[in-house]
Amino acid sequence: MWVEPHQRGMQAVHLVGNGPAEEVLEVREIPRPDPGSEEVVLDVRACALQHADVFARVGHPEIKDSFPKRPGTEIAGVVDEVGDGVDRWSPGDRVNVYHHVSCGDCEFCERGEQTMCPHDRKFGSDFPGGLAEYVAVPAANLEPVPSHIDMTTAAAWPSSFTTAWRMLVTGGELRPSETALILGASGGVGHAALQLADRIGAETYATTSADWKAERAATWAEAVIDYSEAPFDERVTELTDGRGVDLVADHVGEETWQQSINSLATGGRMVICGATSGPDPDIDIRSVYQRHRQILGTPMGNRQDFRAVGRMIGRGEVSPVVDRVLPLKNVANGHRAIENREVFGKVVVKPIS
Ligand SMILES: NC(=O)c1ccc[n+]([C@@H]2O[C@H](COP(=O)([O-])OP(=O)(O)OC[C@H]3O[C@@H](n4cnc5c(N)ncnc54)[C@H](OP(=O)(O)O)[C@@H]3O)[C@@H](O)[C@H]2O)c1
Ligand SMILES: [Zn+2]
Repeated sequence: MWVEPHQRGMQAVHLVGNGPAEEVLEVREIPRPDPGSEEVVLDVRACALQHADVFARVGHPEIKDSFPKRPGTEIAGVVDEVGDGVDRWSPGDRVNVYHHVSCGDCEFCERGEQTMCPHDRKFGSDFPGGLAEYVAVPAANLEPVPSHIDMTTAAAWPSSFTTAWRMLVTGGELRPSETALILGASGGVGHAALQLADRIGAETYATTSADWKAERAATWAEAVIDYSEAPFDERVTELTDGRGVDLVADHVGEETWQQSINSLATGGRMVICGATSGPDPDIDIRSVYQRHRQILGTPMGNRQDFRAVGRMIGRGEVSPVVDRVLPLKNVANGHRAIENREVFGKVVVKPIS
């Protein structure tokens, strides 16, 4: 029997409060969305997790607490239905989603800096996300997925690689003649930054916290430093004959800031996008200004950054590492793995529809 699309149900992950993953992540049956004007409904094929999903679950000062939330930010899917006014996309098109929605009207949007927009919002926190069988998104946020890129890969890069691109390329302006240090090189952003720095041609060092991660990171690094064993700034000083590196990419925060600054050459720049270990570093500001060092906030890339790094992935020049693929019902296991630092690269969730 034919059933109107809006009467069909779907499975969707709901975050129902702050707490342990198994207790507050629920898969619920809810109605499928209909496409609004200028929107499409995607049949979600894959959706990646990121650390922000863990922050939203455990509670974070920068994330508004209103429950239930419908998480899922990094989305790849197939166009299922198109709303009024959509002529660029048709059912069957394979796409991924630039996950920020901005006002389009302010001085930042006019400059193409969507994530600087004071009205910036995103899927998975401000709008229902992709940890569901279907999701409605504005047609303007879609990009095509090349036929040779599988949907798991397509979901594994949008936020992490775009952020890493912003850190290293548009923000940090890393050049092939330079040296770079990438912290937390096993993480979503970290492993993306590591691959990009290597691809740019910079002499690249990495830090990570376990032997098995160091082995994997070594593919793209001159040397990998286990920072659980010794202060990494001392090791960077040794490796660079006392000079330090031109660029440090730090998303770890409180625990690493002073060592990251100490690792910089005179005139070097530290690019930052996160504070996973905490936001209040105890630093000596003289170590910044007396050595002409710069600290640049590069929290996320704009649409052009998204397209640029997407083209590199399409050409196979860099590629997200998928640590594991989980069904929707096991999303809590993915949270646990990220929380316990058991992941190299990305955790991808695949709804079966
Ligand atoms: N994912 C994104 O798209 C995105 C975008 C903008 C900003 N950010 C921010 O960037 C940070 C990293 O995000 P992510 O999604 O890449 O996270 P992730 O995949 O969980 O990676 C974080 C990595 O940081 C390292 N780490 C060092 N100290 C840590 C600590 N105390 N707790 C947990 N991990 C620690 C770990 O790597 P080692 O074991 O190798 O040290 C871990 O793999 C977060 O603060 C996030 O808010 C992320
Ligand atoms: Zn705006």
